[in-house]
Amino acid sequence: MNKLFIVANLKSYKNEDEGEKWLVEFIKHKENWEAESEKEIIVAPSFTLLPSFFSAFSGTRVKLSAQNLSRFEEGAYTGEVNAKQIKDFATHVIIGHSERRKYFHESDEVLGKKVEIALKYGLVPVYCVQDAKTPIPGGVELVAYEPVFAIGSGHPDSPESADKVAKQIMERGRYTVLYGGSVTFENVNTFTKTSHIKGVLVGGESLDPLDFIKIIQNA
Ligand code: PGA
Repeated sequence: MNKLFIVANLKSYKNEDEGEKWLVEFIKHKENWEAESEKEIIVAPSFTLLPSFFSAFSGTRVKLSAQNLSRFEEGAYTGEVNAKQIKDFATHVIIGHSERRKYFHESDEVLGKKVEIALKYGLVPVYCVQDAKTPIPGGVELVAYEPVFAIGSGHPDSPESADKVAKQIMERGRYTVLYGGSVTFENVNTFTKTSHIKGVLVGGESLDPLDFIKIIQNA
């Protein structure tokens, strides 16, 4: 019940070669994260890296997530990657990230469709909300509170404020709430030691595998 979720969002970084280096380094220090058995480790690389990450992590307890998915099933939707394709490699999918809302104009309606498709194919949505009132589609269990001002800014929300928002979200339903936004290996445990935050979604600080390992250890 007290399991913490530690999610790495590699965003639109790393080509094949850089992804390979990340993996080699992360796996070289396996004993440092393997021992943290009460922490669920989830890594979300770009679509292009999912197959190589999948092979590298087979036989380990690291789970994979996509960062997005098509709101459509397979079909004539040029450029889209659908849930059935993602399911070959990943167990989770990030939906509703503020960067998707901002740059790709994803509305609550579109995001609701994405959640529906994810659930249909057995993918667990990691649903991002920007505040305590952001609508959450039915069927979501894992919610990441990510205030826009804190993402990539070096200015995280305060643990007290983040905990309060996590509590408010939990009062809306049976959600497990993570915090995301400028999480570092230095501040991670100020969030994970609060009463209501059950893990973190990490962007920038997960790009270096050794920093990400320190986050896992310090959480
Ligand atoms: P950040 O990003 O850790 O770089 O602030 C978090 C996120 O966008 O998921």
